[in-house]
Amino acid sequence: MGQIKEHVRLDRLLANSGYGSRSDVKALILDGLVTVNGVPAARVDVHVHLSKDKIEVDGQPLKVAIHAYYMMNKPAGYVCSSKGGANPTVFDLLDVEDRGRRLGGELGIVGRLDLDTEGLLIFTTDGDLNHRLTSPKYHVPKTYFVQLENPVSEAEQKQYAEAVAAGVEIPPEDHEPGALCRGGKLDWKSDDTCQLTIYEGLYHEVKRIFTALGNRVAYLKRININNLALDPSLEPGEYRELSEQELSALTLTNAIL
Ligand code: URA
Repeated sequence: MGQIKEHVRLDRLLANSGYGSRSDVKALILDGLVTVNGVPAARVDVHVHLSKDKIEVDGQPLKVAIHAYYMMNKPAGYVCSSKGGANPTVFDLLDVEDRGRRLGGELGIVGRLDLDTEGLLIFTTDGDLNHRLTSPKYHVPKTYFVQLENPVSEAEQKQYAEAVAAGVEIPPEDHEPGALCRGGKLDWKSDDTCQLTIYEGLYHEVKRIFTALGNRVAYLKRININNLALDPSLEPGEYRELSEQELSALTLTNAIL
C-alpha cells in the first residue's frame, strides 16, 4: 500500500471509508456492530491494522476507501485554492468531514478553474492521479462550454476551428509568457456558443485562445475531463463522490500522447 499508514483509528477508518460521519460510526461501534478479528470493538479509538486485522461491519467485510474522489459543479465566485482571501474557496463548499485528511492524504483540487469559471471540478487525495490529469505532458482532454461576447459568422467559425486545430499562439498574461497551444477541437453550437477541447491546461488557456482569435469569453464552464462528464443534476456548489464507473472514465486515458 505504498506510503499509506496501515495502523489507523477504527472510527476514522470507517468514516473515511464512507460508513457515515464520525458520530454515525461511533454509534455503529458502540452498538457492537463492528468486529475486529471476530470480536466486537470495545472503543471507538481502538487502532487496527489495515492488512492484518479482519474488520467486519454488520457481518460484512469492511470496504476500505484509501482515497476520496469527488465531483463538484463549481459556482462562479469561488477560488480554487485552499487559502481564503477576498473570496470564499471551493473547499468552503465541502462538508467539514469531507475536507479533513484521509488515509490516502490531503484532499487536493485537480486543476484550477478561474474565479468566474463554473463546472466540473474534481477533488481527490490521490496525488498520482492528480498529477496525471493535470501535467501538460499527458495531454488529457478537457472540454469547456464557451459563450463568446461577439457573435461569429459562419466563415469565421470555420477559421476559428481551423486555427484551434492547428494550435493558437496565445498572448502573455499576468506572469505567464505567450505560448503556442497544442491543437484542440472546436465545435460550434450557435454563432456565439461552442465547445472547446484543449489538451494542456495552460494558464487562462481558453480565455487567451479566444483573445488571440479577436473575441472574448463571456461565460465559461468546464463540462468534461477525459471521459468524465459533469453530472447535469448537480446544481452549482453541489458535489458528490464519483462512482466506480466515473472514476474509470476519469482515469482511462484517451489523451493524445
Ligand atoms: N481556461 C481559462 O481561461 N479559464 C479556466 O478557468 C479554465 C481554462
